[in-house]
Amino acid sequence: MERPIRLRRSILSVPANREKMVRKALSLSADVIMLDLEDSVPVDEKEKARHAVVEALMASGWKGRVRAYRINDMSTPFAYRDLVDVVEEAGPWLDVIVVPKVNDPAEIKAIDYWLTQMEMRLGLTKKIGLEASIETAQGMLRVGEIAVSSPRLEALVFGIADYGASVGMPSGGISGHGDAEDQEAARLRWLFPLSRMAMAAKAAGLAALDAPFGDFRDPQGLARSCAMSRALGYDGKWAIHPDQLDVINQVFTPSDDDVARSRRIVAAYEAARARGEGSVAVDGKMVDAASVRLAQVTVKVAEAARRNRNLAGLKPSQS
Ligand code: COA
Ligand code: MG
Repeated sequence: MERPIRLRRSILSVPANREKMVRKALSLSADVIMLDLEDSVPVDEKEKARHAVVEALMASGWKGRVRAYRINDMSTPFAYRDLVDVVEEAGPWLDVIVVPKVNDPAEIKAIDYWLTQMEMRLGLTKKIGLEASIETAQGMLRVGEIAVSSPRLEALVFGIADYGASVGMPSGGISGHGDAEDQEAARLRWLFPLSRMAMAAKAAGLAALDAPFGDFRDPQGLARSCAMSRALGYDGKWAIHPDQLDVINQVFTPSDDDVARSRRIVAAYEAARARGEGSVAVDGKMVDAASVRLAQVTVKVAEAARRNRNLAGLKPSQS
């Protein structure tokens, strides 16, 4: 069965222990709000932060936004409580759980089993989704297996800072591709891991999401970074600061011209098929079944973007 498209152009990471930020998040134009229990929350705040996640998930005001939270990774003493405490209280309100630093498909399978048990106990009919974050050399090596490890998976996320550290890349920050300091040659180092993860995600029918750009006072760098992952097939990018959302939404929303061209392609191809032909020229370029699939995705994303804006009452962001 085809899953309805979840718009994931912008994913705002919000430290769950920061009350003010959590409140503010629901007024911002992010497609996904991701309440973080992992790296932005200090160890002695983890328990308090779980309660904050439960409260925030159950609060009103989410409108069309995707409700997500990130657990700690499966090698920590926190992950199981992050799952059980939050899902048992707020399971019915939750869309998706982000699992960080996934090294092995068994981690996703274990979480899948636990969620199934909790869903049965809670009588949930809607299955909770998962996103796996690929941010280690081991995870990247096994990304193809991870991508097909559970039907709950909806997206893979590239974790740039941890990935860079795990392979020993010299780095001054967590911004990665797009950084002014990251000279052209050095920027090439991101091509392989970004493409490898995107290929695994798309082969499994999942969305591919890019890491955040750490320097939130550098919109040009952010735009360069978005353009790079967009060109490689990514569907969206994480944000760590509200000021990043408009740039991200703009880059990951198909332009009016793209949408109009895509609609012309679909219509021309349908007319060609009715004549028994499999290829046709549109605007001087060849169109066949492959171009139609691409065009259909563009139209779907644009429609979801429009629906989201209406639903959430968000301020328009170029669609
Ligand atoms: N979510 C929601 N609100 C946020 C936010 C976020 N991620 N980051 C900042 N804000 C809010 C601030 O609370 C402030 O609100 P106000 O205008 O109501 O006072 C406003 O946006 C402007 O923030 P600013 O003063 O420019 O930044 P800051 O110094 O408060 O915070 C960071 C800067 C980097 C510490 C903060 O953005 C942050 O913690 N980001 C998330 C980090 C994270 O999630 N890391 C893990 C994922 S990799
Ligand atoms: Mg990380």
